[in-house]
Amino acid sequence: MTTKQSERIVFPKKFLWGVATSAHQVEGGLVNQWTTWELEHAKRLSVQAPHQFGDLDSWPRIKKEATRPDNYVSGRGVDHYHRYEEDFAILKSLNMNAFRFCIEWARIEPQEGAWDAAAIAHYRTYLRTLKKMGITPVVTLFHFTLPEWFMAKGGFEKRRNIKYFVYYVEKVLSELGRDIEWIVTINEPTVYAGESYLEGHWPPNKTRKCDMLRVLCNLVTAHKKVYKLTRARKKWKVSMAHHLIYCYPGDDAILSRASARVAHYFLNTWMLRRVRRHSDYLAINYYFARRIYGYRAHDPYLKVSDLGWDMQPDKLQYLLEDVAERYQLPIMITENGLADGTDSQRQWWLTETIKAMHEALKRDIKLIGYLHWSLLDNFEWDKGYWPKFGLVAVDRQTMARTVRPSARWFAAVIKKLRK
Ligand code: BGC
Repeated sequence: MTTKQSERIVFPKKFLWGVATSAHQVEGGLVNQWTTWELEHAKRLSVQAPHQFGDLDSWPRIKKEATRPDNYVSGRGVDHYHRYEEDFAILKSLNMNAFRFCIEWARIEPQEGAWDAAAIAHYRTYLRTLKKMGITPVVTLFHFTLPEWFMAKGGFEKRRNIKYFVYYVEKVLSELGRDIEWIVTINEPTVYAGESYLEGHWPPNKTRKCDMLRVLCNLVTAHKKVYKLTRARKKWKVSMAHHLIYCYPGDDAILSRASARVAHYFLNTWMLRRVRRHSDYLAINYYFARRIYGYRAHDPYLKVSDLGWDMQPDKLQYLLEDVAERYQLPIMITENGLADGTDSQRQWWLTETIKAMHEALKRDIKLIGYLHWSLLDNFEWDKGYWPKFGLVAVDRQTMARTVRPSARWFAAVIKKLRK
């Protein structure tokens, strides 16, 4: 792949090329606060789907799945818990060398203080299998799902509950830490707190700003405590995964410029500033940008994904430049991708993303890896299974995996970029 005819794109030899997943979205057979919530809300979500998604261009294609209650129940997942070896083999065949996954707290500690030895042994074998295959694990400790006993105590709303998260992390590090180097403490704290405690979309469906702020502050404290714990071993490298939205003015008006700055501050900077000194690297997740006119995000001409999210993969370059300059930390892209059931946009998206990363590398930005979301079509929280983010499609009846054409193309590109 070349940007201009004459310019060859090259990435560092040790660059991590891989994918990201989370336990709840692929494993199957889980019991946590989400599984309970899904059963209570599946019917409602299926009935609301025409009102929520009916205007999307993708609607005729997604309608059948989106209006079925079972779309909203994670259930067997995509059976990754049992098929992980097959999935890692696919990853290898795609020339990748990194894999981000989440350890499910509710499996490890199903009841307060009761550790499940079989679940711990599973993750140990899982990590060692990756190692044997030459795949670097990036381990998330909390990716939106929590044990029910922890939620019954008030979850991250209560400061006094942080200690339970710390006990769980201590257990993970003592049992599995030998095989771990890259750690993501908390996935997208701003998304979790916003969706669960302000927007009321996710369990526990709260809608109060003060609850959201309390959760955010407690997540910051939890992250810092875990960071301190991990100082025990040099090899552990720690970050939160930040959901970053590139906010930029659509014109030169003072209001547009000021609004873009304010949006950038609240969506991105507020959290980044709080944990910058407690991060060994910066894990960033990038899906979309906001073009702001006056005080509104607006651009009717942008392409959108199946989910209706604007697709501006090129803006990743500016986001990388911005965070590299402000925080001076190595950066790993720990999620990036799109819902594309026809696989008609994914190759274009990846091309633009690779160009953006290359521009950043040319400016000496220390970018250490790119993890695509995701390997497999998975369970997309309150949207269920209809959005297709996978490089690999999954037939949920047979659980058969089929590598999409864009993934084959990506695999060939990775091979070239490594040379
Ligand atoms: C989350 C993932 C999710 C992805 C696509 C990210 O914000 O971390 O869990 O699947 O977005 O919706």
